[in-house]
Amino acid sequence: MTTGKPTFSSLLDDLKAWLEYQLEEGNRTVEMDPELLKNLAHIPRRKADQAAADAGLKSITETIKACTNCALNKTRTNTVPGQGAAHPDIMFIGEAPGADEDQQGLAFVGRAGKLLTKMIEAMGYTRDEVFIGNILKCRPPNNRAPMPEEMETCTPYLKAQIALLKPKVIVALGATSVKGLLNIKTGISKLRGQWHTFEGTNLMPTYHPAYLLRNPSAKKDVWDDLKDVLKHLGRKAPPVRKRTG
Ligand code: URA
Repeated sequence: MTTGKPTFSSLLDDLKAWLEYQLEEGNRTVEMDPELLKNLAHIPRRKADQAAADAGLKSITETIKACTNCALNKTRTNTVPGQGAAHPDIMFIGEAPGADEDQQGLAFVGRAGKLLTKMIEAMGYTRDEVFIGNILKCRPPNNRAPMPEEMETCTPYLKAQIALLKPKVIVALGATSVKGLLNIKTGISKLRGQWHTFEGTNLMPTYHPAYLLRNPSAKKDVWDDLKDVLKHLGRKAPPVRKRTG
């Protein structure tokens, strides 16, 4: 994986690495728009960066949709690859899809997702301006915790997404997210609020929104962590709009 600011050639390197990964996985065909490939050399570089990342992400999404690498494929309704901006400032990573996410094929659209949306908006972003994903791409039955072997099987997809997205900051939501990315088993209350790095990308662990639904008093800690993320990005939270009525 290339590190630092993405350039046209570093993105092409990443795309090449992704295609090689597909080959290693035994996938002989990937979804790729031939027009896009033909035009890649003729379009402005920033657009080409975006196009290469989009093509890579689309390819990962298609691979996830067809994935049968663990037993969760038998119980899922939809895969949940994650969604949002290519090259976002922030990538939020949770644990695994729940019932709503499994139904819609979208990450964080249930109750915890609504709270995450509020957190994102309080930071001055929209959901479309960040990327939202999970350690697992399929729902574990009855929302049980992901098993270690499921995490091991599924995290290469997330890692490939991170390599293409190149977020400026990763926010790891909850202990499973931190464990999946950093292989650290320390409790989230000890880890939160302290910067870590994942393959060169700054990573801030904080509580999962589902935990906040059960423990609203922890919202202040999460807001402190998110303000630290904003400071790191050279941004400030927008002023809070007073509720009317
Ligand atoms: N919890 C998660 O960790 N991820 C989702 O997408 C929804 C709930």
